[in-house]
Amino acid sequence: MSIEVRREERVAILTINRPEALNALSSALLEELRSELAAIAGDTTVGCLILTGAGDKAFIAGADIAEMATKTPLEARAYAVLGQECARYLETMRAPTIAAVNGYALGGGSEMALACDIRLCSENAVFGQPEVDLGIMPGWGATQRLARTTSMGFAKELIFTGRRVKADEALARGLAQHVMPLDELMPRALKMAHEISAKSPVAIAYAKESTNRALAGDLATNYMVEADLFSILFSTEDAKEGLRAFTEKRQPKFHGR
Ligand code: CAA
Repeated sequence: MSIEVRREERVAILTINRPEALNALSSALLEELRSELAAIAGDTTVGCLILTGAGDKAFIAGADIAEMATKTPLEARAYAVLGQECARYLETMRAPTIAAVNGYALGGGSEMALACDIRLCSENAVFGQPEVDLGIMPGWGATQRLARTTSMGFAKELIFTGRRVKADEALARGLAQHVMPLDELMPRALKMAHEISAKSPVAIAYAKESTNRALAGDLATNYMVEADLFSILFSTEDAKEGLRAFTEKRQPKFHGR
């Protein structure tokens, strides 16, 4: 049981590796995940992160149910906050995050996928928030992110019924951006991640920061922040290079400054 991180040039691939429990996230695994995400978030050489699960059956089957059965309320709160911190890293780190959902994404697994910027799914992907079937509720962000990603009615339906959603419905609801056969999932995720990583990291970071605000805060402030971030980019070598390369009819070379 561990978290594996490997690099392909500017792309980091983080794999939850506990296939015997369908990659369920125990407290120990979550602690490890948080520390790996903190390291990736602080590493300016990472241009994109892919999050996935080991094996061909599950992305993440949620929080560890056996472990939760023994928790006191205070321990449960710490567990919720720890999961929320991991999700916040995925949502707010400068580098875009792609969830490569290769099977079950239930409970906390759906919540980690929802925290990523983009979700690519294999045909066997299954989303759901089955917490109410356990007598509990989502604790790693689904009560906020599911409604913001899909719609309030759909989010409430899933959270209140625990109904599982297959890949084609996830696609139709905007939960997934693309669905593909399992063997095409990682190649497709890597292609997208390399494509994003080749762009100006500072432009991508500011674009992410501004787009994240679309679902929070007030619109007038958000437009002002967009204009501010847009203008700051004009101080970068990357903007000069990108704008010049277009007029010179060549591909730009970005250096992140
Ligand atoms: N926690 C701990 N262990 C889990 C697990 C979980 N969330 N999900 C699966 N496992 C374990 C099973 O106990 C089983 O272990 P053993 O072989 O030792 O018995 C192993 O993984 C394989 O699972 P199954 O035999 O159940 O596999 P299956 O193909 O029959 O069913 C499944 C797959 C539908 C995903 C089923 O395992 C399942 O329903 N899992 C639980 C999903 C769930 O309810 N997740 C939400 C958890 S609550 C949460 O996440 C709260 C939150 O918001 C933070």
